[in-house]
Amino acid sequence: MRLSALLCALLLLTPLTARADIVPTGTDRPAEWPTEGNGLAQTPPMGWNTWNKFACDVNEQLIRGAADAMVATGMKDAGYEYIVIDDCWHGERDADGFIQPDPVRFPSGMKALGDYIHSKGLKFGIYSDAGTKTCAGRPGSRGHEYQDAIQYARWGVDYLKYDWCSTGTQDQRASYLTMALALKATGRDIVFSLCEWGSSQPWLWATHIGNLWRTTGDIHDAWAGKFDYRIGLMDIVDLNAELAPFAGPGHWNDPDMLQIGNGGMITEEYRTHFSLWAMMAAPLMAGNDLANMTPEIHEILTNREVIAVDQDALGHAGGRTWKDGDKEVWSRPLVGGGRAVILLNRGETAQTISVDWETLGLPAATRMAVRDLWAHRDLPASRGSFSAQVPSHGVVMVTLKG
Ligand code: GLA
Repeated sequence: MRLSALLCALLLLTPLTARADIVPTGTDRPAEWPTEGNGLAQTPPMGWNTWNKFACDVNEQLIRGAADAMVATGMKDAGYEYIVIDDCWHGERDADGFIQPDPVRFPSGMKALGDYIHSKGLKFGIYSDAGTKTCAGRPGSRGHEYQDAIQYARWGVDYLKYDWCSTGTQDQRASYLTMALALKATGRDIVFSLCEWGSSQPWLWATHIGNLWRTTGDIHDAWAGKFDYRIGLMDIVDLNAELAPFAGPGHWNDPDMLQIGNGGMITEEYRTHFSLWAMMAAPLMAGNDLANMTPEIHEILTNREVIAVDQDALGHAGGRTWKDGDKEVWSRPLVGGGRAVILLNRGETAQTISVDWETLGLPAATRMAVRDLWAHRDLPASRGSFSAQVPSHGVVMVTLKG
């Protein structure tokens, strides 16, 4: 039996609910399969990525401007760190096979750009693809993995997003393992972001291979629905609702980058987007035009109380705890024994949503201090349950602390 077929058979037998710090074990485990991660991303990575707003329209002025805006807007102070250039930065490979940036879009070269980003106290991220071509048709890393890793390290790259277009019959495990080993061989700390859209359930095998793995197809800037190959916010959320047990320090579920501020949703929905990403311990990769944010969008992206939930040191992602029609409760345990709780109203009119302590795994009689993370105020302490009026497509997000 082929190794991949054997692994698939084993994984199918694995209950999805079990905590799965899974790596293939036994005699069929490849000798080089890592038994520990790279030690990076102990909390979910935070940063900015070009794709959701700018797609292929990237160049060095845009990237420098984003780094400047990250600092000037206070996003850096709020915890955002990585400036990631997604697809379309690539030029050709040189005579020795080393990838070069597009000379028109990046005339100063990637080393200079990395130096600029670092001079702002930020980190530099880049994008490639495990196949022969990236999703936008630029050169992929297939057959050049070690060379590309060396080149990225020379440029001072701190983060690699690695996509899955033009991969033919390639195997996800083998392909991502190869690049993980290539990155490791450079000796540089490079966060490794797997982007195979959940196609091989990477949450079951990538714990020690990548620091984050996409769980779904691409996010569309809409509340819900299917849009060509993209899906809306609620569709992404539903696909992630059961995956919390697989996340943890150093290895996170990635429900895709933020669409907050890109114009397809109302402010209330963007608040919901940010709240749920923090609940899921998702990477917070802003995807808007940082230099031109409205005050409402800035307030969402820099809400430190919500960011603190995302970055909670326990690293225990939250999931859906209760659902009744379009009313939902999401919760996650926090360091120190508290809980973060989201009351989510997916309906078209405001409604009251309640949660009792048993649902949250708390003793019924416990008196808990309640803090509203969007109103930034303490609510009356509660015993046994908590209720609130929740706007349409909105959330009430609180912490409960004993
Ligand atoms: C895929 C990825 C996106 C983005 C584009 C770039 O669709 O899932 O996040 O990187 O490719 O072409």
